[in-house]
Amino acid sequence: MFDNFPLWPVRASSGAATVDALYIFLVALSAFMSFAIFTMILVFAVRFRHRKGVEAEQIEGSLALETTWSVIPFFIFLFIFAWGAVIYFRERTPPRSAMEIYVVAKQWMWKLQHEEGQREINELHIPVGRDIRMIMTSQDVIHSFYVPAFRIKQDVLPGRYTMAWFHPTKPGTYHLFCAEYCGTQHSGMIGQVVVMEPAQYEAWLSGSPNVPLAETGQKIFAELGCSTCHRPDTQGRGPDLAGVFGKPVMLEDGRTVVADENYVRESILNPASKVVQGFKPIMPVFQGIVSEEQLSALVAYVKSLGQPGPGQTAGTSSAGPSNPPANEPAHEPKVQ
Ligand code: CUA
Repeated sequence: MFDNFPLWPVRASSGAATVDALYIFLVALSAFMSFAIFTMILVFAVRFRHRKGVEAEQIEGSLALETTWSVIPFFIFLFIFAWGAVIYFRERTPPRSAMEIYVVAKQWMWKLQHEEGQREINELHIPVGRDIRMIMTSQDVIHSFYVPAFRIKQDVLPGRYTMAWFHPTKPGTYHLFCAEYCGTQHSGMIGQVVVMEPAQYEAWLSGSPNVPLAETGQKIFAELGCSTCHRPDTQGRGPDLAGVFGKPVMLEDGRTVVADENYVRESILNPASKVVQGFKPIMPVFQGIVSEEQLSALVAYVKSLGQPGPGQTAGTSSAGPSNPPANEPAHEPKVQ
């Protein structure tokens, strides 16, 4: 009977049902409170209406009643907060083994790239049952990546990476929206996410020969001359990048930061902002020289350079006067 009257979009991700449950609870609670308040208004309006010849009677407050209607909502609100927080932290914490998609938004299209090198515009093909992590940035203004069927919406900002992740559970084609007004053709900045069976996805992937993103990054790394300074030997004027990604890095000013996507990005565009301990700020600025797509490839390349052993601080020269202590704990990469 309600087949043509969908109140909710399809639930096509692992997080969809929990988001819906909270939403349904909020709607039901609001409906119940509205009903209760309107009923009380009606009852009191009739019961305490003005009658001819009857003096109005002053009614003093009731401490028991007032405490009850303060304490009960307090705990209901705390319960809603805790429930929402659990969903929020889940949505902000991508699993470590997620498949990664690099997204560049621009007026007015979505450019998506797979680690295997496939590029897509306004269309994203992914396999069902895998964790998918989106690493997103914008070339111009603020956009917002919104797939109702997955219950995810994430602003996509110029000048940094924002992340979103989901776990598709149902093959199908789902609507992709831009959910942030971004100019004249904002409403046309739409696309689709095609969730496929794994075998089908493999066939799609191998449909066209492609250069893996990290390999493209390696080429750009060499072309821009990065490889002349970022070398494994101690003569390198910049830190060796092998094993740096995802690990804490000691900086010249004493801070320690985790080498995540945003750190790599910033260190390419504006290297002086975070100089690794033991090195001089001699790296040229690449702001305006590398495109967002080239940045994605460079980040993928740095990521691919392997992981160091536990208990090792990466990104510092193995020689040099200011070696950090070797017992720096290996933190989990910061979740964005
Ligand atoms: Cu992009 Cu709205």
